[in-house]
Amino acid sequence: MNPLIIDTQNMTNHLSPVIVALDFADEKQTLQFVRQLSPELCQIKIGKELFTATGRHLVEQLVNQGFKVFLDLKYHDIPNTVASACKIAAQMGVWMVDMHASGGQRMMEAAAEAVSQFQQRPYLIGVTVLTSLTQTDLAQTGVDRSIDEQVMHLARLSQQSGLDGVVCSAQEAVILRDQLGKEFLLVTPGIRLNSKSEDDQRRIMTPKDALAAGSSYLVMGRPITRSADPVLLLQQINLGMI
Ligand code: C5P
Repeated sequence: MNPLIIDTQNMTNHLSPVIVALDFADEKQTLQFVRQLSPELCQIKIGKELFTATGRHLVEQLVNQGFKVFLDLKYHDIPNTVASACKIAAQMGVWMVDMHASGGQRMMEAAAEAVSQFQQRPYLIGVTVLTSLTQTDLAQTGVDRSIDEQVMHLARLSQQSGLDGVVCSAQEAVILRDQLGKEFLLVTPGIRLNSKSEDDQRRIMTPKDALAAGSSYLVMGRPITRSADPVLLLQQINLGMI
């Protein structure tokens, strides 16, 4: 059988590990791209750019189309404000929402408490150390630990505070998976199909390697959105071919 002819029937029982980052500036471009996708092929992520441009209307539209939506707004505020925002995200039917773990234990606990009443609550994910930060950047914020130590510290705090997982680089996934157990979600951006296409990402891994390293979900933007055939690419990743 031609390996490029994909048996999509086999894929419908499994949740795809791919979360496609919809890093578009407006609704028209987004919907044009999303038209070719389906909830069986991938989950989708709406970040600050698209959300600021379109608001909850587009989130709800995509939720209503059956997509699992990761609302990537990286909340960081006082406990009551973050808890209230997470509650509204849950009411909108969002599948996953994130917050900076450096907002503290009480903030994360308040968020976990706020969504616990929902029958289908969103996953709560902590952001540890932004992958754009260098050791010097971190030191400038007053943190003297190494980046790795700070990532582990904040991941543990996220877990203790009742969050479901963290965003981390695939390189960090091995140690986090080992230390935090198999149920804790590791959501990893910085995924590339080969080492020559890193764009502005630095610590990259292929989909197959990232999943082998312990990633639960792969956040992928440009490798999918700029692909000549995003659907074929997603099918190949879902089947573990690349
Ligand atoms: O195009 P690319 O695959 O690099 O997109 C990665 C997506 O993951 C972007 O939406 C980016 O904002 C997000 N992200 C990231 N690094 C993090 C957290 C989120 O690249 N640490």
